[in-house]
Amino acid sequence: MNTSIKNILQNNDFSKDDIIELLYANQSETKFLYQKAKEVKSGQIGDKVYLRGLIEFSNLCAKDCFYCGIGKSNKNVQRYSLSDREIIQAAQFAFDEHYGSIVLQSGEVKSREFENRVDRLLKQIRKITGNNFGITLSCGEQNESTYSRWFESGANRYLLRIETSNKELYNKIHPHDFLHIFEKRIESLRVIKKTGYQVGTGIMVGLPGQTISHIADDILFMKAIDIDMCGIGPYIEHKETPLFEQRNTLMPLNARFELTLKVLAIIRIMMKDINIAASTALQSIDKLGREKAIQIAANVFMPNITPQSYRKNYNLYDNKPCIAESPVECQSCTVARINLANGKVAFGEAGDAKHYLHRMNRRNEILI
Ligand code: 5AD
Ligand code: FES
Repeated sequence: MNTSIKNILQNNDFSKDDIIELLYANQSETKFLYQKAKEVKSGQIGDKVYLRGLIEFSNLCAKDCFYCGIGKSNKNVQRYSLSDREIIQAAQFAFDEHYGSIVLQSGEVKSREFENRVDRLLKQIRKITGNNFGITLSCGEQNESTYSRWFESGANRYLLRIETSNKELYNKIHPHDFLHIFEKRIESLRVIKKTGYQVGTGIMVGLPGQTISHIADDILFMKAIDIDMCGIGPYIEHKETPLFEQRNTLMPLNARFELTLKVLAIIRIMMKDINIAASTALQSIDKLGREKAIQIAANVFMPNITPQSYRKNYNLYDNKPCIAESPVECQSCTVARINLANGKVAFGEAGDAKHYLHRMNRRNEILI
C-alpha cells in the first residue's frame, strides 16, 4: 500500500490534503479506506440499521434547482399532494410495521397554508405514534418561526442538504434569484440546529463543475457545522433539467458511485457517531448500491412508503428505483437487502443519532 495512505489512515481526523489523497486513492488503497470505515462503524454503531419510512408527500415546488426533476419549470411532471388521510395512513403503516421513524419529504413550498398543514399532520402523527418515534422533516428552507412551530408540534429531525458548500458551484447549479441564496441555506442549517432538531445535511457527488477539492471542503464543512445526520448520493442527470446539457462533462456513473462510497467512508471515520443514510440514488447506479453503503459506512435505510401511484411523479433523477413497487414490496425488499449487507434491522427503534445524544449530554454537563 502507498505509505502515505497508510499513514493517513492511522488517524481519525483528516486535513484537507489527507481527504484529497483519500479521494484519489486507487482501487487497492481504497480497500484499506473501506476497512478502516468498517472498523469505526462496527466499534461505534454496531450492525444495527435504522429504518425511516420515506413519505414523499408532495412534489409541488417553488424552486427551480438546475439538477432536480421536480423543479417548477418542468411542465412534464404531474403535480400531486397526498391527502392528509393518505399521509396519516402511511405514517400508521410505518408505526404498525415497527419502523421506528418516518421522513416527511416534499418539494419546497413556503406559505402559511403549507406551514399549517404540516403542523396539523405532525400533531396527528405524534398522537398516533407517541414519543418514542422519530419524525424527520425534509421540506426545505423555511422561516425560523416555522421551524420552531414544527419542532414544538413533534418533528425532531430536519434534513436540508447543502448540495455543495462551494458558493461558486452552488450558483452554477441554481438560478440566481432570492429563492436560491447560498448564504440563506447555510443560515437555515444554523437555525434548524438552534431550534433543537437533530440536523442532517449532505451533498451530491459528481456534479458538473465539481472538483475533488470541493468535495474535501464539503466534508470539512459538515464536520465544522457538527451535523448529526448525513445523506449523500451521486448526482444523476435528469433529461428534463437544465444541467442535462452538461452530461458530457460528467464522470462516468460507476466513478461517481465509487467516489460517493469513498466520501461516506471518510465521513464515517471523521464523524464516527453520526447517522449516515444509504441513499436511494446509489441504487440507481448499482443494484446493490445501498447494501454496499451499509457494509462500509451507512446505518440508516429509508424504505419508500409513498403510495405506489404517486411515485413516478417524484422523479428527482432518471432511473430512480422503487417507482413500480408498493410500500409492502419495499418493506420485504429492504429487510432482504439489509440482511444481505450483514446488518440487523433495528425494528421499533427511533434510532436517534448517537452524536446528537452525546451533544445533548455535553450541553447538560455545561449547564450543571
Ligand atoms: N441527482 C441526484 N440527487 C438529486 N437530488 C435532486 N436532484 C438530484 C439529481 N439529479 C437530491 C438533492 C436533494 C434530494 C432530495 O435529492 O440532493 O436535496
Ligand atoms: Fe423499494 Fe427494494 S426498497 S423495491
